[in-house]
Amino acid sequence: DAPRTLEIAAIPADGIGHDVVGAGREVVDALAAASGGRFSVNWTEYDWGSDYYAKHGVMMPADGREQVADKDAIFFGAVGWPTVPDHVSLWGLRLALCQGFDQWANIRPVQFLPGITSPLRAADEKDLDWIVVRENSEGEYSGFGGRNFAGRPDHQEFSVQSAVFSEYGSERIIRFAFELAMTRPRRKLSKVTKSNAQQHGMVLWDDVFDRVAADYPEVTTESVLVDAMAAKFVLKPGDLDVVVASNLHADVLSDLGSALAGSLGLASSANLNPERRFPSMFEPVHGSAPDIAGKGIANPLGAIGSAALMLEHLGLPEEAAAIHRAIEETTRRGVLTPDVGGTATTADVTRAVIDHLALVP
Ligand code: NAI
Ligand code: MG
Repeated sequence: DAPRTLEIAAIPADGIGHDVVGAGREVVDALAAASGGRFSVNWTEYDWGSDYYAKHGVMMPADGREQVADKDAIFFGAVGWPTVPDHVSLWGLRLALCQGFDQWANIRPVQFLPGITSPLRAADEKDLDWIVVRENSEGEYSGFGGRNFAGRPDHQEFSVQSAVFSEYGSERIIRFAFELAMTRPRRKLSKVTKSNAQQHGMVLWDDVFDRVAADYPEVTTESVLVDAMAAKFVLKPGDLDVVVASNLHADVLSDLGSALAGSLGLASSANLNPERRFPSMFEPVHGSAPDIAGKGIANPLGAIGSAALMLEHLGLPEEAAAIHRAIEETTRRGVLTPDVGGTATTADVTRAVIDHLALVP
């Protein structure tokens, strides 16, 4: 293979976003150095986020998206800091990138790692290994709505926040989930819905699912209400393989999944523009964690796992697998940050992952 240079935009943004993006970059750089020239990475770092907001009144410059549009991918930390209202920081940076780049599929693996004790003590690596596929462009986070009667002295303000379920948006993510299920040994797809209560949007979602399912007779399917699915994550995790859900449902369920796996700090995610018209974005699931920011103890494994998803997306599956194996070796040997019961620092864990890259044949 010809050597490749990956052009990656790094956007640490806020809080522990800085720690964990730094960790992910170190791992990828170590892998590139060890790759015998198979690939190298040219990182460009952007200082966008809540500090940028304090100076400029915006989370990123007006042409921010254009600045990163030609990159191969975006490696993202987390947004959110007490100085900026959460809806301003989220919409001003993370959602501006996700939606502006039409990253309509959000991939969130949930996996047990050796050496970490989950609340599900009896379960093991084989039971807890599923992928949440999140609709990432519409649904409950479409941004449609408004507020009326702001500031009325009698406190009669009201708001409408509409959920949008289009046939187009539903079909592309459902089809994506079926295709993903086809690549996995179990070939099972669970659809999350709430069509009992939401009789318009979620019924269309169900109808589209049934129509698309006819094209995938090899895939076993089930339809589960979101509340029942929350229980099922805990009670019957071995029953899950690929789970497709709306924007809000998948947001909540994937935090539950990563907590079951041991910590939010372990969970990785990919925001994909599957057509590759725009750069896709890779980020840990967690937020900026102001409670532990600056202490050097953030768990970097979610971000490092996200870097692996990025390399896989960019055509380097062996390198991605090397990172996954190094992560497993690190947790198996008990090099753990405090959130998963250890005393290691972010730097210790990052160093251990890099050391175990070298073990890879
Ligand atoms: P959070 O994910 O930042 O933290 C929740 C809890 O998990 C905290 O106790 C934190 O210490 C712990 N935690 C998270 N990541 C960890 C890691 N890598 N290692 C060890 N412990 C970790 O969620 P929270 O507190 O609700 O939100 C904080 C800020 O982050 C808010 O401004 C919120 O809007 C933003 N946020 C941003 C996200 C993003 O950019 N994708 C996602 C979620 C929240
Ligand atoms: Mg979330």
